[in-house]
Amino acid sequence: KCSSLDLIPVIDSTNQFLLDRVGQLPQGAVCLAEYQESGRGRRGRQWLSPFGSNLYLSMYWRLDAGMAAAMGLSLVVGVAIAEALQSIGAEDIKVKWPNDLYYQDRKLAGILVEMTGKAGEAAHLVIGMGLNVAMTEQEGSDIGQAWTNLTQACSHLPERNQLAATLIRRLYETLEHYENVGLDGFIERWNRLDNFLDRPVKLLIGERVVEGIARGINSQGALLLETEQGITPYVGGEISLRGC
Ligand code: ATP
Ligand code: BTN
Repeated sequence: KCSSLDLIPVIDSTNQFLLDRVGQLPQGAVCLAEYQESGRGRRGRQWLSPFGSNLYLSMYWRLDAGMAAAMGLSLVVGVAIAEALQSIGAEDIKVKWPNDLYYQDRKLAGILVEMTGKAGEAAHLVIGMGLNVAMTEQEGSDIGQAWTNLTQACSHLPERNQLAATLIRRLYETLEHYENVGLDGFIERWNRLDNFLDRPVKLLIGERVVEGIARGINSQGALLLETEQGITPYVGGEISLRGC
């Protein structure tokens, strides 16, 4: 049986730790690590997780409404984390569709929602967040895109445990709220935080590239892209958004 908070210094992946224990976990169980040997992002990509520099945090959530209701959850979690960081004094924290947090056009954090369960039954979700707190240039030198850390975004960083506690509390409250109101309660808030709102972007969809102007998200959590043909909603795990 797992306790509701496990603090583990070295781990393969905090998401994997909880996924391996679904069925033994209380609602809101958290796994927090100092280092991940195999931290992961979407589609099996690596999440660089140097020792002690960042936060690697996952929470278990049983969603009675099932898998379909989990659509858009990374958007909701993005809003929760962005607002929590603003509450501790970090300004201009933004979200990027579908699962990242940005500061000054650089990646600050990533969210990975994984789940198990059967159709028609409760979904067992693991919501993972990697937040760069003090990662140095050298530690992050292998990351193939612009990134930043919270030390840049916040002049008075709270103590690490305090930061973790703030994020955990906000995440828990947000998931409870999401169960009651669904995505609807978050669309406007997400659009207000959108790093790319009204900016030229391209969508990478497999081999295909579509360019247009980002117009936020709709009530299904789909990204709205304006092209000469009008506004088209895009949804699905295989799409990546890039600024132009
Ligand atoms: P997408 O838009 O498809 O989500 P992405 O490049 O952000 O694209 P993800 O799977 O979300 O892809 O995140 C993994 C990527 O994030 C890695 O390939 C790497 O470029 C970057 N990355 C890895 N570790 C970190 C980190 N600690 N901080 C910031 N970025 C990282
Ligand atoms: C992404 O940007 O693709 C999401 C990255 C998510 C990284 C976090 S770190 C804690 C949790 N454990 C993992 O292996 N991944 C997530």
